[in-house]
Amino acid sequence: MKSYDLVVIGGGPGGYVAAIRAAQLGMSVACVEGRGAIGGTCLNVGCIPSKALLTSSAKFAELSQMAAHGIGVESATLDLAAMMGRKDKIVGDLTKGIAYLFKKNGVDLIEGWGSIPEPGVVKVSGSDGNTLLSAANTLIATGSEPASLPGIDIDETDILSSTGALALAQVPQHLVVIGAGVIGLELGQVWSRLGAKVTVVEYLDRILPGNDGEIAKLAQRALTKRGLKFQLGRKLTGIERGADGLKLSLERVGKDSTETLEADKVLVAIGRRPVTRGLGLDALGVATNSRGFIEVNDAFMTSVQGVYAIGDCTPGPMLAHKAEEDGVACAEMLAGKAGHVEYNTVPGVVYTDPEVASLGATEEVLKEAGTDYITGKFNFMANSRARSSGETDGAVKVLAAPDGTILGAHICGAHGGDLIAELVLAMTKGVSVEEVARTCHAHPALGEAVKEACLDALGRAIHA
Ligand code: NAI
Repeated sequence: MKSYDLVVIGGGPGGYVAAIRAAQLGMSVACVEGRGAIGGTCLNVGCIPSKALLTSSAKFAELSQMAAHGIGVESATLDLAAMMGRKDKIVGDLTKGIAYLFKKNGVDLIEGWGSIPEPGVVKVSGSDGNTLLSAANTLIATGSEPASLPGIDIDETDILSSTGALALAQVPQHLVVIGAGVIGLELGQVWSRLGAKVTVVEYLDRILPGNDGEIAKLAQRALTKRGLKFQLGRKLTGIERGADGLKLSLERVGKDSTETLEADKVLVAIGRRPVTRGLGLDALGVATNSRGFIEVNDAFMTSVQGVYAIGDCTPGPMLAHKAEEDGVACAEMLAGKAGHVEYNTVPGVVYTDPEVASLGATEEVLKEAGTDYITGKFNFMANSRARSSGETDGAVKVLAAPDGTILGAHICGAHGGDLIAELVLAMTKGVSVEEVARTCHAHPALGEAVKEACLDALGRAIHA
């Protein structure tokens, strides 16, 4: 039995980053992955392929707006197979990149599905039988998978999860998306830009729950302008398959009425659930919470000594970058260093056009907690760079304590996912709105909207 200081189960952004960091710190490390490719959901069927399609579809959609720039485009054609091929190549290249990083850092990749028959042992079930590894420490980084609804059978042909919606061979005529969360909006916009009619059905009376309400409203307005249709306050209760497609039954939430909706494809994007099956957690005695997430303490230790867990299979935001931070901190703590993750300042980004980025508390959370706060807001309409590029939808909003300490920041707008980084750093380091506002920002740049929002919180915006 080969022995390792650390065996990581799962090669997603949490697991592979933890494996590399642990190897950098001198540990002997193996990473067990059963998917046949490293990179997990994020790289194979999540963040990366969706961003590839978002970029390609944005370019296609832009062609219809070239006249305003004085550019004539005769007729754009869509080669969906080529678009999908580009996406698959990006995924393949990045996967090979991680394999290279494993080699460079001396991490052994063990192909197969891992389980923990007893503390200190990892069993790998691969195509050529079972292998046992001896592990001084075991790290579970098994991630998450799409959640479904009772009675709804996701076949990835007509009724899709994000995985199927990233690999359609044809543009649907009418795609109904269930859930106005991150996945629903991103993939809804991809197919809408490529020519599908897209209706987003959402249980709540708003989109993007958990995001700041005012910013989510701006996003809804902008996405509607770009072609998405929203049916809020509706719960999907069933899907019937017929000769002419799918018939969805919807319940009006809080009203005693039902509706139907016809579609040729349905994307179910109602959240994700942790993947822990097959690991042998029950027999091992690893505690999970009522929703199936593995319980861990501040040092990522589970209830069983020597077994750790990070990322989507543990409580907290299900985000690749959060899993990476977990992985680094866990490896550093295993090496006797002071690993730490600042969960209050983990940003979230929806990569639609416009992007929606959020950080820290929303206004709703501050109100509910009775916290005193000041707000600053700046619309991109008043930003000269946004005017030049025609990306004027949305705004930057900052929320701060009366002394200027940043409590939250929310952006709806072009490149919002990049602009939020300045505020993440500011919030993490305790930099106040006054200090951000007094920092010189290049002109003309979208970042000036961040500066102006901070000035606005102090009642001193120049361009508003
Ligand atoms: P989500 O939790 O973001 O949104 C799900 C939505 O579905 C909610 O608005 C919910 O109210 C609604 N819903 C639930 N049941 C429903 C029903 N029966 N009928 C109608 N609506 C219903 O989940 P989503 O979009 O599936 O994403 C899953 C996870 O993946 C999230 O945690 C997200 O953070 C992560 N992710 C992150 C991305 C990013 O960082 N850009 C991209 C894609 C996913």
